[in-house]
Amino acid sequence: MSRTVQGVVSKAVGEPVTLENIIVPDPGPGEAVVRIQACGVCHTDLHYREGGISNDFPFFLGHEAAGVVDEVGPGVTEVAPGDFVILNWRAVCGQCRSCLKGRPNICFSTHNAAQKMTLEDGTELSAALGIGAFAEATLVAAGQCTKVNPEASPAVAGLLGCGVMAGIGAAINTGGVGRGDSVAVFGCGGVGDGAIVGSKLAGASTIIGVDIDDRKLEWAREFGATHTVNSSNEDPVERIKALTGGNGADVTIDAIGLPHVYRQAFEARDLAGTVVLVGVPTPDMTIELPFLEVFGRGGALKSSWYGDCLPSRDFPMLIDLYLQGRLDLDRFVSETIGLGDVEEAFHKMERGEVLRSVVVI
Ligand SMILES: NC(=O)c1ccc[n+]([C@@H]2O[C@H](COP(=O)([O-])OP(=O)(O)OC[C@H]3O[C@@H](n4cnc5c(N)ncnc54)[C@H](O)[C@@H]3O)[C@@H](O)[C@H]2O)c1
Ligand SMILES: [Zn+2]
Ligand SMILES: [Zn+2]
Repeated sequence: MSRTVQGVVSKAVGEPVTLENIIVPDPGPGEAVVRIQACGVCHTDLHYREGGISNDFPFFLGHEAAGVVDEVGPGVTEVAPGDFVILNWRAVCGQCRSCLKGRPNICFSTHNAAQKMTLEDGTELSAALGIGAFAEATLVAAGQCTKVNPEASPAVAGLLGCGVMAGIGAAINTGGVGRGDSVAVFGCGGVGDGAIVGSKLAGASTIIGVDIDDRKLEWAREFGATHTVNSSNEDPVERIKALTGGNGADVTIDAIGLPHVYRQAFEARDLAGTVVLVGVPTPDMTIELPFLEVFGRGGALKSSWYGDCLPSRDFPMLIDLYLQGRLDLDRFVSETIGLGDVEEAFHKMERGEVLRSVVVI
């Protein structure tokens, strides 16, 4: 018997999201149904609603979630009903050329549930990042469920399912931030502050947060930024150079995904440094860079999918650090809200009033 749950759906570009009845099929082979306990509102959900990701409306939103496995399909051995899990959007295949080379964190064939969830009239839904978790329950591939210590609260654990993990990983995994490094993070939202927290964890000694909103900069300092720059008042490139002995930062991270911000990150980087793009651009955007500088400065220009994380390695480890008091995740939860409040949470995000609104079910 399939189940019917309430979930948040985006039906057309730019239109307010609505609560709909969603049919969640019984789990088939390799699938699991998860009872969602909490799901953060990520900027990527808003990108979906604005048509910035694809045109496959209607979207079933929400993808930054934790919950309890309710039921598993045939052949599922990695999780069982009752397990507390964080949902990940990169279930690795174990068989593609990247996995076979020992690099499952960049698996080229990640997968989701084979069956589709639908509206009551049978319309198939596109689940955001293959999850769809602004709902009482969802259907995922069993490999999208990562078990973690159930002592962590769902509202906090879910954050690692997307934005905060992407930020921490952009710094540690993609950027390779290490002890004594200087880091500049452009955009101090949930992802950018994740990068600040990750840089602090890795031992960076100079961490510069850049934003256009003073409130965000204040929060960035609470997360561990040693300096902040409001780039609507002053040139962030000059300021970052001044703060790093005239050189630029070892690692610069664009946690917004805007061409002019990427250019700032490119220019604010020291010789042989690394630029990391973790913010998501829209399809219409292009960048122009001085080609000789791309060559002459050396180093690396990298993009960071999901913070290059491996959920099975990183989620339990980060939850353990959190439970030991070594990773401040509580501070990311600005407010807890209900399923019917997601549209208003988008507006609060646009107005810069929150880091993460977390739907608690
Ligand atoms: N790569 C990934 O795997 C991944 C995962 C999650 C989210 N993302 C992307 O990361 C980006 C950030 O997400 P978020 O949830 O932190 O969003 P957010 O809205 O919470 O934060 C964005 C921040 O950027 C600031 N900002 C906007 N324009 C700016 C400018 N010109 N200069 C400086 N700061 C500026 C805003 O004030 C805000 O603080 C989005 O593009 C999102 O889609 C990527
Ligand atoms: Zn693979
Ligand atoms: Zn996200």
